[in-house]
Amino acid sequence: MQNSKILRAAIAVGFAIIVATIAPLQAAPLDPKDVVQPKMTPALNIGKLNYEAKCAKCHGRNTVGTNKGPTFLHRVYHPGHHGDAAFYRAAKSGARAHHWPFGNMPAVDGVTDEQIKSIILYVRAMQKANGLF
Ligand code: HEC
Repeated sequence: MQNSKILRAAIAVGFAIIVATIAPLQAAPLDPKDVVQPKMTPALNIGKLNYEAKCAKCHGRNTVGTNKGPTFLHRVYHPGHHGDAAFYRAAKSGARAHHWPFGNMPAVDGVTDEQIKSIILYVRAMQKANGLF
């Protein structure tokens, strides 16, 4: 009786350790089916087009992520953690890998401030539609 309790406790602790070890590496893209689309406006459509041209090959269509870059629908990219300045910085100068196992983000060639501004508008609308804030 006592032994089986100890065994169960040991299994629970072992399981918790495994989950805690794996969790930070979970970087699989989201299923596009689970993503809610914002109500599109002309400005958001421009942002979406710029996003798809410059960012989607790594961050995924509909911001769901790919095997080359993270989804923006993760709480890490809440505006309180990664404000708009982080988007200008990442697009212009790249970003060193620190949250995920994807590697560094290179600077995005030929992206203008105007385009980044529209991309941020689109990414924030996606985040809001999906309950990030
Ligand atoms: C070649 C792949 C690639 C492209 C293209 C790309 N990114 Fe990234 N981006 C990444 C990766 C990988 C990371 C995650 C780095 C890490 O581990 O935190 C990242 C992280 C970011 C971050 C977070 C930076 C930080 O301070 O933590 C922002 C913001 C970002 N990307 C914006 C963009 C925008 C905007 C575009 C398009 C203009 C873009 N990215 C295009 C790969 C890419």
